[in-house]
Amino acid sequence: MTKLKILVVAGDGIGPEVTGEAVRILRSVAELGGYDFQISEALIGGVAIKQQGTPLPAATLSAALESDAVLLGAVGGNEFNSLTPDKRPEAGLLQLRQALGGFANLRPAFAFPALSSNSPLRPEVIEGADILFVRELLGGLYFGEPRQWDRASNSAWNTMRYTRDEVVRVARVAFELASMRRKKLTSVDKANVLEVSQLWRATVTELAPQYPGVTLEHQYVDACAMHLMNTPRNFDVVLTENLFGDILSDESAVITGSLGMLPSATIGGKVNLYEPVHGSAPDIAGKGIANPLGAILTAAMLLRHSGNLEQEAQAIETAVRKVLEQGHRTADLVRAGETPLSTQEMGKLVHQSVNEIIDRH
Ligand code: NAD
Ligand code: IPM
Ligand code: MN
Repeated sequence: MTKLKILVVAGDGIGPEVTGEAVRILRSVAELGGYDFQISEALIGGVAIKQQGTPLPAATLSAALESDAVLLGAVGGNEFNSLTPDKRPEAGLLQLRQALGGFANLRPAFAFPALSSNSPLRPEVIEGADILFVRELLGGLYFGEPRQWDRASNSAWNTMRYTRDEVVRVARVAFELASMRRKKLTSVDKANVLEVSQLWRATVTELAPQYPGVTLEHQYVDACAMHLMNTPRNFDVVLTENLFGDILSDESAVITGSLGMLPSATIGGKVNLYEPVHGSAPDIAGKGIANPLGAILTAAMLLRHSGNLEQEAQAIETAVRKVLEQGHRTADLVRAGETPLSTQEMGKLVHQSVNEIIDRH
């Protein structure tokens, strides 16, 4: 019997609203399959700062390290914007990522046929687009030292640093995933300007002969940002360093039609971490209108990568597709004149559909 210890860190803003819907579905997958999911909750981010004075309480960290998978909602809020980076809710997430050790953040970006008119891109441009970003998650500017805002000299600096080994391990994940998909890997860098990108490109190039079935291409990040919107179908797996992947994955939400749709999974460390790509969305938090589908698709990735429950993962993905095909939409996806569903209404519809699909198996 599949046993899974799942720690839910819902965090701030819409985090608790969307993870609530994902967790409901996880519980019912466990019940229907007779699996033993132990789901518990812990504090992270702004809510942890308020209650415990730190964005990553020790109890959260140790519970995370003892679990099989961590499901995160989102962290951050406007009230923390004046704090230095090390004190902010986001610091809690970065510390958690580092402690869990996952270095390969898988971020699928895809076109749903039912949402083709939600993208500002023409339907014939996005039709069939199916991209998998492999974003390096533990290096680059996010973690490089030195970093400082030196008020005396009115200057500030961060360090973009990678070692060869850090590039090798994430590039291997990308090559392997590409070999199981459409066998194309696009490595993104800024090797025309940055030494760190030259190391990146040389290292990825050096690995390529070990994956003869995969076609490797390199793109500069600026041109890549444009190609992604012009010809999204030309991409299969896209390998990026940390910040480039952060930016390009949000950009690619345009292909799907809403940032609220995109899931992610971080693998390769001690404990896998699952989080939707979007943030705490302070502009819509507390209203019950956020799109829970990114969080729900994130739960599907959790079942696939941490539970080896491929059938259940696909049941969730199929349910999401069906509900969208039936025309159901949250506020981020409605067209003029349509009535949007609330977060909970959307979650409930997917939940029902997942149950029906699993029952039929
Ligand atoms: P955001 O992703 O929170 O929101 C960007 C826009 O997308 C907003 O208009 C928002 O309403 C919309 N949006 C996002 N998710 C949505 C959903 N599920 N349904 C409907 N609409 C959705 O990014 P931001 O506004 O730049 O950042 C807000 C805060 O979130 C910041 O503090 C940031 O650091 C944090 N953040 C956290 C994470 C994370 O915890 N993983 C990720 C990104 C940003
Ligand atoms: C994301 C977020 C985070 C990142 C922030 C909140 C630290 O934007 O998960 O995409 O930059 O990695
Ligand atoms: Mn981001």
